Amino acid sequence: MKSPAARGFSDSPPPYPYGWFAVAFSSELSNGKMLTARFIDRDIVVLRTASGAISAIEAYCPHLGAHLGHGGSVVGEEIRCPFHGFQFATSGRCTFSPYGTPPPAARLGVLEAREICGVVMVWHGPSGETPWEIEAPDAGPEWRPLRTKKLTLHSHPQEVTENSVDFGHLSELHGFRNVRVVRDLAADGPRLRTSYAFTRTMPLIGGIDTEIDIRVDGLGFSLVEMTIPGGWAIRQLVLTTPVGERGVVAHIATSLRTRAKGLVGRAVWRPVETLIERAILYAVVLELRRDQPIWDNKKYLSRPALAAGDGPIGRYRRWARQFYSEEMS
Ligand code: FES
Ligand SMILES: [Fe+2]
Repeated sequence: MKSPAARGFSDSPPPYPYGWFAVAFSSELSNGKMLTARFIDRDIVVLRTASGAISAIEAYCPHLGAHLGHGGSVVGEEIRCPFHGFQFATSGRCTFSPYGTPPPAARLGVLEAREICGVVMVWHGPSGETPWEIEAPDAGPEWRPLRTKKLTLHSHPQEVTENSVDFGHLSELHGFRNVRVVRDLAADGPRLRTSYAFTRTMPLIGGIDTEIDIRVDGLGFSLVEMTIPGGWAIRQLVLTTPVGERGVVAHIATSLRTRAKGLVGRAVWRPVETLIERAILYAVVLELRRDQPIWDNKKYLSRPALAAGDGPIGRYRRWARQFYSEEMS
């Protein structure tokens, strides 16, 4: 990628930054299933083969253009087109044509895909460049299955992710008090890390002091971890996927680390933990719905009138420039 100084940056960032972006939750894809997802203004097909491997491919068959997400199927480890029955390996190679030897040009477009923390992520990057990897958090069996929700936003991944460093809005928009930085923003290549604390007022319970760790890997992967009263660790994912010029699908997920030990313990704790999980997802979506009208209607200002209490928005924006190239602007 080019150095930031080499880029002519227009007022708003180009619509499709490079990076890893969520296109499905793992729970949506049982073995042998495929689904269509919208990604950077085109359709792709995401699938899981009979052995459980994840793949993401261009939606259109290279033979005569049928949409594989409409009638195509997973056959063992391969994909079969519904139109003339060509079959493809997940590498993209055509393995079968009913007319004999497959034409050499019959090759599916394949996207790099990873399954991280119960989410299927695909790569968008400059051709020929090896993707960097998301630093996956531990995903042991103590982490309960994700609870998920998708929200469609009229926004941009950079704008939504900017929330993680916009400390000022936490009190005004979300009503959090005593917002303070615990660990200053640290950038390391495509990764950002920071921690902060605040007091949140909950009905009946009163003020709760919360400390949160934020991990951002590119503009499509944002993970918040915290411990709630009672000692449960929870995780919150807000993964923004660019689907159109100013269209984002936010893949939202929460997970709780069970405190139960053994089968009996799990059975005893399950009802309590299920209630907590529901409340957490509800609370996360509630806060995002407070942000949504701002995101949906705001304008990106390349030269905002930043104030002292804003948080490291300038540093965040300089860091974000690495996800664009000069050719995009
Ligand atoms: S269009 Fe897919 S096999 Fe012909
Ligand atoms: Fe927010």
